[in-house]
Amino acid sequence: MELQVNKTARKGMVLFSTYKRGEAIKRALDIGRENVLFELKTSKLKGRGGAGFPTATKWMLTAAAKSDDKYLVCNADEGEPGTFKDRVLLLEYPALVFDGMVIGGYTIGAKNGIVYLRGEYEYMKQTLEEYLEQMRKDKLLGKKILGVEGFNFDIKIRLGAGAYVCGEETALIESLEGNRGESRNRPPYPVNTGFFGRPTSVNNVETLAAVPHIVAKGGEWYMKIGTDKSSGSKLFSVSGDCNKPGVYELPWGTSIKDLLKIVDAEDTKAVQVGGASGICIPESQFSRTLAYEDAATGGSIMIFNKKRDMLHVLKNFMDFFVEESCGQCTPCRIGNVKLLEGVEKIEKGEFTFDYINNLKELGKTMQIASKCGLGQSSPNSFITILENFKDEILNKCGNGVTA
Ligand SMILES: Cc1cc2nc3c(=O)[nH]c(=O)nc-3n(C[C@H](O)[C@H](O)[C@H](O)COP(=O)(O)O)c2cc1C
Ligand code: SF4
Repeated sequence: MELQVNKTARKGMVLFSTYKRGEAIKRALDIGRENVLFELKTSKLKGRGGAGFPTATKWMLTAAAKSDDKYLVCNADEGEPGTFKDRVLLLEYPALVFDGMVIGGYTIGAKNGIVYLRGEYEYMKQTLEEYLEQMRKDKLLGKKILGVEGFNFDIKIRLGAGAYVCGEETALIESLEGNRGESRNRPPYPVNTGFFGRPTSVNNVETLAAVPHIVAKGGEWYMKIGTDKSSGSKLFSVSGDCNKPGVYELPWGTSIKDLLKIVDAEDTKAVQVGGASGICIPESQFSRTLAYEDAATGGSIMIFNKKRDMLHVLKNFMDFFVEESCGQCTPCRIGNVKLLEGVEKIEKGEFTFDYINNLKELGKTMQIASKCGLGQSSPNSFITILENFKDEILNKCGNGVTA
């Protein structure tokens, strides 16, 4: 079996289609900022970092903020377990990501772009720096881009230090400022008060990579791909029990059943959509679709076959969250520990059904009361695995103790 996790496994109609470096920057300059925003709005592009916020709105808000010192940050932290599509984009398609940043800088009026690169991706920093240097030589970056007076934009690369929460945009900004990576209260939002208090647009690598195609081919073209509420294509990082793991570009709206066929998965029991913080889908729901309106994901798809122990899978996820909680707020700091303890008690058969129900309620409280997306989403796998694989877990661990 050929392992393809580092490479593009399936080229699609958007991100992995042909693109000539600089082409969309030229077009953006020809049509002007307002029309770039118009094309983006027409495309209905939503942020690919997980939250799905409309990119045109984010850029309009940052463009409208009153400051002559704005920032565009490319979020390349890629910390969600099972996600590796941004790494592929940066290494195989840097023209898309960096042209997207230049167009973003032009549109929001930023002179500075920063790539926040996951610490573990340090090995690619030199290659990316060389690429940026070539862009400067070709007048696609730096002062007077493509000879246009006043259009100055440059990009720096900064390394993260390995904390999952630093992918959250406000914790990322804290980390960029040299502080401990902890999420901020919102509002104010980064579009007004971001990096060192300046208006800042934080965009995922894949979001930025979609922009040049939209600018070059038009928002209408893009909008027609995918579904009504989820336009365009999506990169899925597929791992686990299948014969063809890798990065796949597919239109939004693809069913899980079809995806399993494409990646040649056999005997599948469960598909974890959206990484450790996502939801676990059982075989009875494989006709569900990958889309914002159904099973949404930042890109991570983990496949588990019938030999896998779902309680063990859950324990792994909960271990991760206990480790990665930044500890600022009680629901997440204590809640994740309680959920992990619960999994361990279930494993030993030391539980009552009331206890499990209370833990599920605790998970729902964490979803509402946690300060940032980490604690708001960490109970998702706990709730969906216990609900969808209840029989398997009870068969293995017994029916608990009498209350
Ligand atoms: C715990 C946590 C980790 C996150 N990690 C990432 C990440 O690695 N990459 C990313 O683009 N967004 C990540 N996000 C989402 C960001 O906060 C933010 O929504 C995103 O970068 C905005 O870009 P977009 O609008 O292009 O999606 C994370 C959010 C949370 C709560
Ligand atoms: S939810 Fe978790 S990661 Fe986010 S602020 Fe609270 S403790 Fe920190």
